[in-house]
Amino acid sequence: MSTSELHLSRELHAGAPNARTLAERYLDVRARTEALCEPLEREDFVVSSMLDVSPTKWHLAHTSWFFETFVLSSHDSGYQSPDQRYAFLFNSYYVQAGERHCRAQRGLVTRPTVEQVFEYRAWVDDAMLRLIDRIAEDAAHPAVALIELGLQHEQQHQELLVTDIKHVFWTNPMRPVYDARATPIRAALEAGMRWKTMDAGIYHVGHEGAGFAFDNERARHRVFLEPFRVAERLVTNGEYLQFVNDAGYRRAELWLAAGFSCAQERRWEAPLYWERSRDGWSMFTLAGEEALAGGVLDEPVCHVSYYEADAFARWAGCRLPTEFEWEAVAPNVPVASHSGSARHLHPAAPKGARGLTQLYGEVWQWTGSAYVAYPGYAPAPGAIGEYNGKWMTDQWVLRGASCATAPSHMRPTYRNFFPSDVRWQFAGIRLAGSVSIA
Ligand SMILES: [Fe+2]
Repeated sequence: MSTSELHLSRELHAGAPNARTLAERYLDVRARTEALCEPLEREDFVVSSMLDVSPTKWHLAHTSWFFETFVLSSHDSGYQSPDQRYAFLFNSYYVQAGERHCRAQRGLVTRPTVEQVFEYRAWVDDAMLRLIDRIAEDAAHPAVALIELGLQHEQQHQELLVTDIKHVFWTNPMRPVYDARATPIRAALEAGMRWKTMDAGIYHVGHEGAGFAFDNERARHRVFLEPFRVAERLVTNGEYLQFVNDAGYRRAELWLAAGFSCAQERRWEAPLYWERSRDGWSMFTLAGEEALAGGVLDEPVCHVSYYEADAFARWAGCRLPTEFEWEAVAPNVPVASHSGSARHLHPAAPKGARGLTQLYGEVWQWTGSAYVAYPGYAPAPGAIGEYNGKWMTDQWVLRGASCATAPSHMRPTYRNFFPSDVRWQFAGIRLAGSVSIA
């Protein structure tokens, strides 16, 4: 279904107020996913360039499978999938939902075709909109919460779609441009780093009240923090370049042992997408190659692993914030992206801002907190309980949101998480430090 057809469909499904609200939100999220595909050619949809990268076509289908499996199968007795084999192809990791295709071979699946996957999306959309019409008068209907979860899930995959296609294009020697409008907003940065200092005390963290949150953001609880300080802006490319030029990647004393081994084995000498030539450093962006010079040096450094973020912080005489320190400073900062444009897919320098800035909409920020359950955490029963809970091992929490995150998907309590060595996400660095305890 094209974007224009989705808008037409919206007209047809304007029913009761609740129905209209939920149906519009459903259509908006589904349309944004497809809008992100507009710059792509058909061949681009099929490729997986490494194990972490899923083909665009897979993202389009998997998000539809999610609605089919967790909403329609339970709440629409008449629903039938257009092809029973899709459940095997497009289940990601839900063991309780049945057998699934090998992740490493997603890029080998040429059928269904891209057109058939778009038809699959339209099929699911029609069934979902009929269901929404039917249940809209009952806000407490159990399907409503699952539909919202499906929309939040699709927004997560919108970001993955972008990060994955960036890696696919970087892997291609032709270095395709996704969208020339994805260029950064240039802004002069004030020299030096300002800090926000926080007192020791008990802080409340985690989600409560109205509004969506994933189960891993609950339960809201108290934590005690010693006095600390958090950098008011993100670490820049220029600052990270100093670390690179200071032999940062070759000095074992700056690194965790596993991090140094990883960097040596993979021959890291700079962030992912940085490349050195006779003319100096450049980096690959979704708008093409950019020289690491001028205003680009003021942009936030991006595509670094936890290991690199940790080593840089040690080199700078600082550390990473814990996830609770990050959340403790967040409440008075508006949750907003720098541009709100779905096509602005590159982190930008702050625009003359003073005070705490760049929390949302530039890069996810690595924290020094392991991804573990909060007190009182309880995953949902059944396959849907596999969404977050079973990943609470060997991963680190990232806070904030990136330039590829949908604006309506950002919130202060959000807990993103990835293993220590991944670099293909829009992840960067905010520094923190302890202050003397009186
Ligand atoms: Fe998923």
